[in-house]
Parts: sequence; C-alpha cells; structure tokens
Amino acid sequence: MVKLRVTATFIMAVISVSVLQAEANPKMQKQSFGKTEDGQQTDLYILTNKNGMEAAVTNYGGTVVTLKVPDRNGKIDDVVLGYDKLEDYEAGKAYFGATVGRYANRIAHAKFTLDGVTYTLPKNDGDNHLHGVFNKRVWNAKDVSGSTGQALELTYVSKDGEDGFPGNLSVKVVYTLTDQNELKIDYSATTDKDTVLNLTNHCYFNLAGQGNGDILQQQLMIRADRFTPVDATLIPTGELRSVKGSPFDFTTSTVIGARINQDDEQLKLGKGYDHNWVLNNSTAGSLYIAAQAYDPHSGRLLEVSTTEPGLQLYTGNFLDGIRGKAGKIYNRRYAFCLETQHFPDSPTHPQFPSTVLKPGQQFHSTTVYKFSTK
Ligand code: GLA
Repeated sequence: MVKLRVTATFIMAVISVSVLQAEANPKMQKQSFGKTEDGQQTDLYILTNKNGMEAAVTNYGGTVVTLKVPDRNGKIDDVVLGYDKLEDYEAGKAYFGATVGRYANRIAHAKFTLDGVTYTLPKNDGDNHLHGVFNKRVWNAKDVSGSTGQALELTYVSKDGEDGFPGNLSVKVVYTLTDQNELKIDYSATTDKDTVLNLTNHCYFNLAGQGNGDILQQQLMIRADRFTPVDATLIPTGELRSVKGSPFDFTTSTVIGARINQDDEQLKLGKGYDHNWVLNNSTAGSLYIAAQAYDPHSGRLLEVSTTEPGLQLYTGNFLDGIRGKAGKIYNRRYAFCLETQHFPDSPTHPQFPSTVLKPGQQFHSTTVYKFSTK
C-alpha cells in the first residue's frame, strides 16, 4: 500500500514537472505561409516568450511579419507594418520587415570596382542599386531554440553573380526572441571570392501599433554626433557632417516630427529623414546602444543595439496608402525604420568602414531590438 502511494506520488511529480517544463518552454509554432508564384513552399514561424511577446517570421525574405509587444498596461499590439499574405510580399516594394542584402541601401550608378574589376548591378532606384534581392528569396529554415529563447535559423546561398555581385555567398540569419523582450538578429556570412556585403533588417516600427496613425509624436534618440549627408539621389557625398544645431541632432531624445518639415536642404532631399547616422561606437564590432524610440501614449520603449557602424533612419516618406495587415492603410510617416548597417555606397568611399568580405573571413554582426515600457 505504502509502496503504491509512493509510486503514485512519484508519477504525479514527474507529470507536474513535465507540465511545468512544457509551460516554460512552449515549442515554436510553424504554419504554412503559402506557395510562391513559382511554386516554392513558405512557412511562418511563431516565436513566443514567457511575457506574451510574439514574433512571426517567414522564411520568405527572412521577413518579420508581426511583432506583438505589450504596452504599459499589458495590452498587446503588433508594432511592425506588413502584409497578411505572401502574394503581397512578393509584389511589394517597401521591404516590410525583410532581411535586406546583398547590399542594404544604395550603391551609386549601380556599379562598384573591387580588385580592379568593375561589377555592374541592376538599377532599381533611378540610376542606383538599392537593397538587393534577399527579401524576395525563399530561405532554408531550422528551429535552433535554446536556453536564451526560441530561435529560428535562416540560411541562403547567393550564387556567384547573383544581382551582379561576385562570389558564392553563404548567409545565415538567426532570429532569437528572449525572455528579456529582445528580438535578437545574428548575421553571418562567408564567400569564395572577394565581394562586398551589407546586411540589415527593414522592420517598419510604429510603437502605437501598426496602422494606428503616424509616428510624428513618437520620440527618438540616436547616439551619433555625425551623419552622412546625401545628394539628390540619396547617395552620400562622402562628408561626415556634425549634427549639431541641425534637425539631424537626435543626441537627446526628440519628437520625430518636431523638425521634419524644416526648411533644410538635407530633409528636402530625403523628403523627410532617410539618412545614415555615424554611430559614436568607438569599438567597432561590439554591441552598442545605437538608438531609443519611445511612444509616450502607449509607454512602449524600443532600444536598438548593434555591432554595425551606421544606422539609417527612414521615416516612411514613400508610404502612400498601402493596404497592409488587418486592412490597415499605411500612409506617409506611419512608421520609422532603424536600419543598422554599414554606410550606403561604401564601395566607392574608401574612407567609410569597409564592406569587403574575403574568402577565409567570417562576417558576423548582431542587432538587438529590445522592448520595455515606462
Ligand atoms: C530604405 C531607403 C528608402 C526607401 C526604403 C524602402 O530605407 O533608404 O529610401 O527606399 O528603403 O521604401
């Protein structure tokens, strides 16, 4: 009898421990995201953490489709712009939530010279090359969840000559959702020929919730004393200009809309903010708090840390009434992007941090989007 009772208690204990473990470590969910026009299967992976935060990522373009984050009262909203359906991502031109490469941002006149050879790229932004095709590719996906949180590994091999770039480039992007409410993105890459590379993520944030108005009253701080002014086609002139006394000074937290319509040559060229800031991080390669965005209404605070030297602030100047998730309409300035990156057009500016990757080298960079409330 005693023995029976002990055995029963033991079984109950084992059951409750495994129930607890199941609760603490729910499995990443996977569901179909449909087939691409050319018949490739895509999936949506739903990463969750213990605070109810949720990131849905598809292997189509390595794209963050939704990012559900609590406000100061615990109310959950999706804080990134995007589409409900794969076909809209296939047709879309806004790079919503996408993994961007091979070269994030612009390359002037869609060409660059490396080791004495000139490479020609597609012109997809006037006379320039912009952002590349990684956001339109189907990536291999693998659940690599571990002690730091649920994690999705995406890999893609960009063939020698894809989009005009040299070298077979193997790229790996790992999204991890931690219990500290961080969406961490680790990028790595190797090549078999000298090449150039610039990887970023193109999430469009609205801390009040996607589609819920413009972001002009949200506040931003960027830890950068200089930015890279641009010409009329948004290519850096090469100058690293002080932000002091200009609408580009976000060294203290400032309302995004406070100066956006000022009579300023650079703001006019960008039709708002669409510029690269030179982060003050003096130890390149180490994780640095680059920016903080805050929505006083919801209390959501986003902190962006990165190992990259630059940060593109883009204030959704080209959003023109796109129909997005849940039927929401995205008008001008309905989101901001904080794209951690190397500087635009680096291959033609030898004084900028180098974007060259050589065989035998391992490229690695990390960006963390951390959410809290205050
Ligand atoms: C980047 C560019 C912008 C715009 C968006 C996509 O951030 O800098 O000019 O092209 O991507 O619409």
